[in-house]
Amino acid sequence: MNDMTPTREQRTAALEGMGCKRKRVEDARFTQGKGNYVDDLKLPGMLHGDFVRSPHAHARVKSINSEEALKVPGVLAVITAETLKTVNLAWMPTLAGDVQMVLADGKVLFQNQEVAFVVATDRYAADDGINKVVVEYEPLPVVIDPFKAMDKDAPVLREDLAGKTTGAHGPRKHHNHIFEWTVGDKDLTDAAFRKAEVTIKEMISYHRTHPSPLETCQCVCSFDKIKGELTIWGTFQAPHVIRTVVSLIAKLPEQKIHVISPDVGGGFGNKVGAYPGYICAAVASIVTGKPVKWVEDRIENLTATSFARDYHMTTEIAATKEGQVTGLRVHVLADHGAFDACADPSKWPAGFFNIVTGSYDFPVAHLSVDGIYTNKAPGGVAYRCSFRVTEAAYCIERGMDILAQKLKMDPAELRLKNFIRKEQFPYHSALGWEYDSGDYHTAMRKMMETVDYAGLRKQQAEKRAAFKRGETREIMGLGVSFFTEIVGAGPSKNCDILGIAMFDSCEIRLHPTGAGIARVGTKSTGQGHETTWAQIIATEIGIPADNIMVEEGNTDTAPYGLGTYGSRSTPVAGAAIAMAARKIKAKAQMIAAYKLEVHEDDLEWDIDGFRVKGLPEKTMSMKDICWAAYNSVPPGMEPGLEAVSYYDPPNMTYPFGAYICVMEIDVDTGVYKIKRFYALDDCGTRINPMIIEGQVHGGLTEAFAIAMGQEIRYDPEGNVVTGSFMDFFMPTAVETPHWETDFTVTPSPHHPIGAKGVGESPNVGGVPAFSNAVNDAFSFLGSTHIQMPHDYWRNWKAAKNLGVFAA
Ligand code: CDP
Repeated sequence: MNDMTPTREQRTAALEGMGCKRKRVEDARFTQGKGNYVDDLKLPGMLHGDFVRSPHAHARVKSINSEEALKVPGVLAVITAETLKTVNLAWMPTLAGDVQMVLADGKVLFQNQEVAFVVATDRYAADDGINKVVVEYEPLPVVIDPFKAMDKDAPVLREDLAGKTTGAHGPRKHHNHIFEWTVGDKDLTDAAFRKAEVTIKEMISYHRTHPSPLETCQCVCSFDKIKGELTIWGTFQAPHVIRTVVSLIAKLPEQKIHVISPDVGGGFGNKVGAYPGYICAAVASIVTGKPVKWVEDRIENLTATSFARDYHMTTEIAATKEGQVTGLRVHVLADHGAFDACADPSKWPAGFFNIVTGSYDFPVAHLSVDGIYTNKAPGGVAYRCSFRVTEAAYCIERGMDILAQKLKMDPAELRLKNFIRKEQFPYHSALGWEYDSGDYHTAMRKMMETVDYAGLRKQQAEKRAAFKRGETREIMGLGVSFFTEIVGAGPSKNCDILGIAMFDSCEIRLHPTGAGIARVGTKSTGQGHETTWAQIIATEIGIPADNIMVEEGNTDTAPYGLGTYGSRSTPVAGAAIAMAARKIKAKAQMIAAYKLEVHEDDLEWDIDGFRVKGLPEKTMSMKDICWAAYNSVPPGMEPGLEAVSYYDPPNMTYPFGAYICVMEIDVDTGVYKIKRFYALDDCGTRINPMIIEGQVHGGLTEAFAIAMGQEIRYDPEGNVVTGSFMDFFMPTAVETPHWETDFTVTPSPHHPIGAKGVGESPNVGGVPAFSNAVNDAFSFLGSTHIQMPHDYWRNWKAAKNLGVFAA
């Protein structure tokens, strides 16, 4: 080896493969304002559409008069449900097996529901047209509270379902009932409660909130009348699914539909489903033969597109006096709004809520969920979570704290006592999941040591004593949260969307010069896929990540995939990428053997190429193999070096983490200060530690927002009172606390590279940490559970209700 020969370390570093903090390649365009978003698209002759929306939450639509609107200069058409009926599109199917009005048909069921679509030469003319459409409404009684929606004499919301005693997920027990879903063994669980030495029961609500990506939902539809082809550029997290849905409902051949997701400014679940705007823009383009753009404004996004959470969870835990849990019983009243448009895999009406046993070894459990219609916007999306996992984690993590309080045990000790032990994996939970791997005790102990948990508890005790002596008006809370996620939907045995199995895909094509392109079925909405997918390929086949271009989001070029949401990209597409790379490597090995004149079995892999076993100087680099693939392959072999993989995962992956929040609250003002927030995440093999840290920072910031104030709130008439960023808490850098991050690594045993997802984890684990901190702060004043969100006013109110002003 001469001085110029790179060392093994240098060869590895040059690849920028897995484990490397590779800088995000997509940021070159984003930081220079050169991203290409839907609203950047300006096509010749493009028209603009905008909605007339209902001011009422529940009303009969008596008439719609468009005469004056059509006189507004620039207004070309006003589309109503009657227009859509002529093409059989007044209603559309939802992902949850329900149907949903595209435009108000006879009545409206939530405030800001789409009533008519005005098409004009520009956005301003469309807006003027909207103001001239006259809609006559007859207001009807409004139901906002899901508990009241189940009253015998509650108004009938869905008249279209009159007399239907069965829905997509079984029997309906009331005119506003959607489904009941039960899991677990009721008899055994009831028996465990009868025998229990200690029990707790609490109604734990997870309020309605909204994913609110900075870029709202939008699309441009362009119908080519001559070719009969429809192109849709949209902010889609799952472009292939959108293409299939459009084909099925618009009866257009699927090969004549081109769906393109350009750069997407955040998704968080908001951009998974199909909205009336997409249908109306497509119909308007088909009718006019011109491209039609539809772009939501912020109020529309917050009030009419998919909400998240709104779960009301009656939680019961049975335990021994020593704190060993013996049973879990949860009933959920799930408010789905006006239509059941939840974005869950078909067979899971409450998503993966049955992960509610969390990280604990519950011998028995029983869960029942009732889905309910109310006069609120439809949706129920996984806002940075994997199909209701966030609700489940909040439920069990609050439940464990409440149990600890009743037992007068430390909440961390209670958790350590009940964790699933390392040697129990793969672990079968009482509610039906097989957890792939975990080492909870190590993670929890690392968290406790790093933050000096014992020292913090001591500090809290001193602070409480000082409060009681009247020396301070601040109370201190420690919010412990230990979560287990379930991500990577999913295995075809139990996960599909509209009948399509939830696999994902990758196609890799290597070029002669040792570079290539990878096309993947996912769609980054900010997670940095262009950076990390190339890193997987770099490690697998020894081509530098910089030489691999990653492309997603165009249904004409990317292989069919189910898209990006629920942290599924790494567990599913990440595996497809590794498998496609391995197919390439297998062919490369045959080419190298032929060129080196040895048998394939005599070769071994070495960082960026093959070498002959026992003859380390006899090598062929992957770069040279690429060249050979195009000019001298073995006789009988096809030239070229490319592969495609469709990966159907055998199981989900189960990332986990230990979080702690240290908070102080001023009881006179309700003002809180986050003194410290430490988050330890275990997502198995780490592809890019810098991107993981960014994901954790972003997710924690959203968790902070949700727990401490972010809410979609309605008044009794069904008006949304938090419909703008003036009222809906969107933290800026000023409010956002400092995050300390840490990790352990417990690889997934079934994933080709051992990776689990991470994007959702900080939201899932963060919310209970904040809420437990608030509740822990107030617990010594006699409080058991204070509902989220914990904004200043509610903290002040909690203090007042606990009588701290009595003296
Ligand atoms: O589906 P989504 O992209 O939202 O979530 P994810 O699979 O958790 O990935 C988010 C980002 O973190 C991607 O760029 C991943 O490649 C990266 N990641 C990683 O570097 N290592 C992991 N073990 C998991 C994710």
